[in-house]
Amino acid sequence: METRMEEVDPLADGRPLFEEAARVLSEGGLVALPTETVYGLGADALNAEAVARVFEVKQRPSFDPLIVHLSHAKELSKVASIPSGLEETVGMLARLFWPGPLTMVLPKTDVVPDIVTSGLDTVAVRVSSHPVMRGVIKALGHPVAAPSANRFGRISPTSAGAVMKELGGSIELVLDAGACSEGLESTIVRPVFDEKGKPAVELLREGPVTREQFRNVIKVIKLKKPRDGDQQHPVSPGRLESHYAPGKPFLVVEDAAEFIPEQGVRYGLLSFKGDSALVSSHDWASVVVLSPGSGRLAEASVRLFALMRQLDENENIDVIVAEPVPKSGLGYAIMDRMSRAAQAHSSH
Ligand code: TXA
Ligand code: MG
Repeated sequence: METRMEEVDPLADGRPLFEEAARVLSEGGLVALPTETVYGLGADALNAEAVARVFEVKQRPSFDPLIVHLSHAKELSKVASIPSGLEETVGMLARLFWPGPLTMVLPKTDVVPDIVTSGLDTVAVRVSSHPVMRGVIKALGHPVAAPSANRFGRISPTSAGAVMKELGGSIELVLDAGACSEGLESTIVRPVFDEKGKPAVELLREGPVTREQFRNVIKVIKLKKPRDGDQQHPVSPGRLESHYAPGKPFLVVEDAAEFIPEQGVRYGLLSFKGDSALVSSHDWASVVVLSPGSGRLAEASVRLFALMRQLDENENIDVIVAEPVPKSGLGYAIMDRMSRAAQAHSSH
């Protein structure tokens, strides 16, 4: 199959292109499209066959459900029902963080095909702030199911070029609207009652909406890592340890003294600010810097996946070494992605 790539001109009226993408989707086709977090691989969420193709193309296991994207929060009741007693909580989170990089897991309604939710009775829902994602959903008139547009377990794409490398040749259309402004996948929460019966959220995936932002408005319950073989509670099936995997071994090194290079191995460094002891402690094959000089976490998250890809594609590097970033705000989400990239190689 030939994959068409269309550039979105931010200064022109996008509607003709959104309608074109909607036509492809309504015929059961797959369209990769930008969101503020990462590029998604979109299918008509109400078309089970089209959604089945998403799993096939991504080589994603059928037990890992997809996020359903809406164009507006007022459409929430079509796909999800809000548990009684949590209406205010859900309403508040929607008002504060939608449109934006937050996904909420809620009980699903019957219109959502089981394949979207992998048979769970909950659905993950998000309203992206990206005008292209919202425009396409509006033109289609249905919600769009979209996982990140990478093959399963790999680094999420934050540009149309990265999407083409992952999925070119197996989907109909890619809408290119440039780089994503957040760079990390949405934060996923499940509104619940805590042990005292008060509204709270379970944090299922760290992301651009930080723990601190929630803590100002609601109690946050951080889930423990699922134990091996724990099939009883598939709360967030996608919380697999080995994710965001570059093709090369990936190590997170806390300080320079801890790094003992092996003879003949060529190392590339993913540095936070570019001025640490680690940078000068070794003759690196390449050094790339997440936030040169200033060490800003927002800048680091926008650049993380693109720089991971760059090191992965560099033929002069055998192993990627990453410096940790400070554990606060966006730092949790960045460290989550790094430790999973590292886990992917230590587990097999
Ligand atoms: O930023 C994002 O969220 C991007 C853009 C495209 O919206 N999407 C994304 O989708 O990251 P994906 O499929 O790569 O990750 C979605 C995660 C998976 O880990 C999945 O297991 C979890 O959401 N998930 C989906 N439905 C769920 C549910 N009903 N309960 C718990 N977790 C769910
Ligand atoms: Mg993903």
